[in-house]
Amino acid sequence: MAVGQETVLDDYAFLVSETDAKGNIRFANEDFCKIAEYTLEELIGQPHSMVRHKDMPKKAFKSLWSTVQSGETWSGYVKNITGSGGFYWVFATVYPFVSCDGSKGYLSCRRKPSVEEIKEVEELYSEWNKEEGN
Ligand SMILES: Cc1cc2nc3c(=O)[nH]c(=O)nc-3n(C[C@H](O)[C@H](O)[C@H](O)COP(=O)(O)O)c2cc1C
Repeated sequence: MAVGQETVLDDYAFLVSETDAKGNIRFANEDFCKIAEYTLEELIGQPHSMVRHKDMPKKAFKSLWSTVQSGETWSGYVKNITGSGGFYWVFATVYPFVSCDGSKGYLSCRRKPSVEEIKEVEELYSEWNKEEGN
């Protein structure tokens, strides 16, 4: 994929990643690695913001973190950057959970959003970015 090019997810793509309480990646499944264009080894231990796209407003992640830190589930649209500088949109659901070793963690499950949903959220996020002065 070239810089600035969109990767459109397959209908049944299911991108999963797990973080620790601070948002450092503990696991990512095959679909996540494939679309993000990273190996699992490259992702493990990195802050999840390594895939952050500059078009994402701060407000979206503030809402994500305050929701999951209060024990609730967050859902929303996220645009991520790929390893080669392309991008992809997902509809993400983020869950707080307790991992097998008893430590607190978060899990994000991502599916393909529709073209119409992406169009709407692009407009919303561009308004938020204006408000934030980005
Ligand atoms: C489980 C989980 C998954 C996340 N997935 C993403 C993601 O796919 N893309 C992203 O930019 N941020 C993701 N985040 C949010 C990042 O931790 C971070 O808050 C965000 O990238 C903004 O970066 P900043 O906090 O350094 O400004 C995720 C957070 C959690 C807890």
